[in-house]
Amino acid sequence: MFSDLSILPPDPILGLGQLYKQDPNPNKINLSVGVYQNPEGITPIFAAVKQAEQQMLAAQNTKTYIAQQGDDAFLAGMATLLLGDALVAELGDRAGGVMTPGGCGALRMSAELLIDSGKSKTVWASDPTWANHFPLLQSAGLELKTYRYYDAETKGVDFQGMVDALSQIPEGDTVLLHACCHNPTGANLTKVQWDEVIGILAQRRLLPFIDIAYQGFGDSLDDDAYGIREAVKRLPEVLIAASCSKNFGLYRERTGAILVVSDTVETTKAALSHVMGAARKSYSIAPYHGGGIVGTILSDAGLTEMWKTELEQVRLRMKSLRQQLCDGLNTAQSQQNFDFVGKSGGMFCYLGISQAQILKLRADYGIYLLDSSRINIAGLSEVNLPVIIDAVAKTMES
Ligand SMILES: Cc1ncc(COP(=O)(O)O)c(C=O)c1O
Repeated sequence: MFSDLSILPPDPILGLGQLYKQDPNPNKINLSVGVYQNPEGITPIFAAVKQAEQQMLAAQNTKTYIAQQGDDAFLAGMATLLLGDALVAELGDRAGGVMTPGGCGALRMSAELLIDSGKSKTVWASDPTWANHFPLLQSAGLELKTYRYYDAETKGVDFQGMVDALSQIPEGDTVLLHACCHNPTGANLTKVQWDEVIGILAQRRLLPFIDIAYQGFGDSLDDDAYGIREAVKRLPEVLIAASCSKNFGLYRERTGAILVVSDTVETTKAALSHVMGAARKSYSIAPYHGGGIVGTILSDAGLTEMWKTELEQVRLRMKSLRQQLCDGLNTAQSQQNFDFVGKSGGMFCYLGISQAQILKLRADYGIYLLDSSRINIAGLSEVNLPVIIDAVAKTMES
């Protein structure tokens, strides 16, 4: 049965992680994969997560199946996190969610929902976008096209290019947007730009499909959801794919949610039934453990406060590392102005260096960044920053 299969090429992000593991250089530094690391280089468990997990396990007296939609406390907590109290109250059952295995599960099941709708199969994604958007959405039968987003000259958002591109998308298509902390570029829309984008979506009857994998890593939990909340206020339908991997540090627990908002309760219920129908055909019901932890945190004021405080510390540390990298590179070399590094936000940034320089950093210094020059800001530390700055500067000056 399987003897004719050849080995698939490795995933561009996870495959680089394997190369890094095999590199014998004792001073190697991995800036490729998107995980947060503390000053000791460890991806820590949030104290609020640990406490909620212990509480949850102590109270648990069965491992029977949960409801297909997922844990109630989790779904209610996620709706509030994404939409805020006022919108949740106003929308009632016009907003509804389904628990999914991570943000990837949410994206893939959203793709199934879009296919089931029987409407346009075309989804427009930013150029560039997170590499895994393509296989996740295309494998469900969607066609992915791109709209202009990143300006390699200014190393920021090409907003006029984006507006021009969105204004030409055929009515009824879907537009995939990063709610915050754009992956891979770190170049984000301002609130004024979000307002304009949402205006175009309204005018051209385009469905916003918003991927939010870094809420709380950008400006704040509320600011990072600005685009989602404004879209929900102004548009008849919004589809949201959320991940709890980064902001709750639950990577391996595979925790996420789809949130559907529409103009009638019936439409939302029908859409959610299709999401659950699609899930039934693959993994059936999302794993409970991570969602149970998030639900425990978000339904307890004390744990919520504790988690928010920890998340804010993570956010501020990443912001400071980003600024230190920006200042350090500007001081150490004269080939390129790196102010854009300080101006971008979230977990990632394009360094904007050449392919040859990226390969040289890997070969000579054991510093791993993606071929696109994307670096994980959260992989920087007070210890490795001077080494990285020195290596990048020497590579650029050579
Ligand atoms: C933009 C974006 N969306 C979604 C995800 C999905 O994350 P996960 O499936 O690990 O929750 C990621 C993870 O890296 C991401 O960067």
